[in-house]
Amino acid sequence: MNYIIEQDKEWIDTVWDKMDKKLRYTAVKNRDKLPFESINGVYSDEKEERITWWTNGFWGGIMWLMYEATGNEEYRKTAERSEEILDGAFKEYKMLHHDVGFMWQLTSCAGYRLLGKKDSCNRSLIAAASLSSRYNLDGDYIRAWNGTSYTKDPREAAGFTIIDCLMNLALLYWASEEIEDERFKKIAMRHMDMAIRDHIRPDGSVYHIVCHEVNQVGVRKVFAGQSYSEDSCWSRGLAWAVYGSVISYIHTGKAEYKEAFKKTSAYFLEQCRKTEYLPLIDFCAPSEPVYYDSSAGLCVACALLEMAKHVLLEEARYYTQEALKLLKVCDEKCCNYDLGEDALVTMCGRRYPKNDKEVEQYTNKNIIFGDFFFVEAMCKLKGRDFFIW
Ligand code: GLY
Repeated sequence: MNYIIEQDKEWIDTVWDKMDKKLRYTAVKNRDKLPFESINGVYSDEKEERITWWTNGFWGGIMWLMYEATGNEEYRKTAERSEEILDGAFKEYKMLHHDVGFMWQLTSCAGYRLLGKKDSCNRSLIAAASLSSRYNLDGDYIRAWNGTSYTKDPREAAGFTIIDCLMNLALLYWASEEIEDERFKKIAMRHMDMAIRDHIRPDGSVYHIVCHEVNQVGVRKVFAGQSYSEDSCWSRGLAWAVYGSVISYIHTGKAEYKEAFKKTSAYFLEQCRKTEYLPLIDFCAPSEPVYYDSSAGLCVACALLEMAKHVLLEEARYYTQEALKLLKVCDEKCCNYDLGEDALVTMCGRRYPKNDKEVEQYTNKNIIFGDFFFVEAMCKLKGRDFFIW
């Protein structure tokens, strides 16, 4: 990346060294855990109570990224342990959901691509088969969840999609490449086309949740989900759309997906400039109180750095510099390199809070996906070409 200036290289190397030092320590300390968040400096462990929880692949993903970048065996051991623990989720088939991409793309699929083990390939293909079995033939989308609090009618519940699912499509693209059969890829593209039509608004913001007409193409209702309101824009939801569009573009080359990236990333960056590149949880919420979500900015930083590899120099320079702004503000305000704290990234928001109790529950958290996207972005800045998605 010759558009990174000397001063940035120094920043990258300094941050990398601090991050690697901390992760070498936490990798060993948390080898038997599937962490979700750190509380009082200690990572939670989801393997007993919530083996199918959607974030259970991020820890293994961090470990594979760091193993790929450093060759340190401690990272490999924790990554492989994470993959094994996650096998427990296959015993809960009815609990599996649209987020199996997050779970297995970052663990078994990354492991398979790095080490070529048959068990890792099997796990990834089984997860891809489960995801593709959620495809609704009449509505042209991958169904979200296995029921929702938004409706009691099971027929209506089968018609929900969420913007987050764009990240899961990576697993379908990989599966098609692996078995040399486009059937998985075609499902992924149909879902991506639906998202462009039904989730992404003309200004580049997104609806988090869409309920489709029963067994046909079309929108029945939209829901706020993790946003402030149904017409507002939850920043991490938008980040899923930005990076999801990049993933679909890279695996298909379809021009509309690049356009979707441009439109959503332009809206995201325009909003971030108002808060010095630390994103709010919801870009359209009232100006007070202020709630941030560092993870949204980190996810978009990864998307920008990845897209920079697929555009001409001027555009690439712009995306790289914008990504650096998102990452530097996070390093300055949200990163904790202290070994006494398991998490690396703070100030993640789970959703826009509706009351005081939710402020406590959902804002200013240290969540594993914040760490994951910070690590992924730093690996890209270090010049690693391994694209985990
Ligand atoms: N996929 C749920 C979230 O981003 O919080």
